[in-house]
Amino acid sequence: MTDQDLIAAARAAALRAYAPYSRFSVGCAILSVDGEIATGANMENACYRLGVCAEIAALTAAQSAFGLDKIARTAVAGGDGSGAELTGTNVCTPCGGCRQSILEAAQLSGRDVEILCASGDGTKFENHRIADLIPHGFGPANLADRA
Ligand code: THU
Repeated sequence: MTDQDLIAAARAAALRAYAPYSRFSVGCAILSVDGEIATGANMENACYRLGVCAEIAALTAAQSAFGLDKIARTAVAGGDGSGAELTGTNVCTPCGGCRQSILEAAQLSGRDVEILCASGDGTKFENHRIADLIPHGFGPANLADRA
């Protein structure tokens, strides 16, 4: 799967966001080592702090579909806009909490998971690795010594 294919899947997922409060729609696509894709989008709530990020929605779907340990690559895309059109031109990088959750999958799989970060309109993207987005992170590897 090409970078553009994975970004396209994330942008398509963003169109299904429920983001009436921020009007900032984010989608995430996760590719497994076997070529399966799981996607998710942000889902906000009238009680603002209960909103769920796209990456968490996609990680939950990935765990159900093939397991976090099979995660190979991810793409995140989003920005201003909702419904049929995403107009944002800035690349969307995962928030700190989502980096922590992707780190969990990365340490489970033993892979430095790739994260393509794209703008909502699809015109720009950056290619990152989770180790760069959350250096010196705390994850399951730090608990490995426990009996
Ligand atoms: N958002 C995500 O879904 N993922 C991120 O990594 C950054 C932010 C969502 C949360 C909220 O619904 C909206 O974008 C604005 O912050």
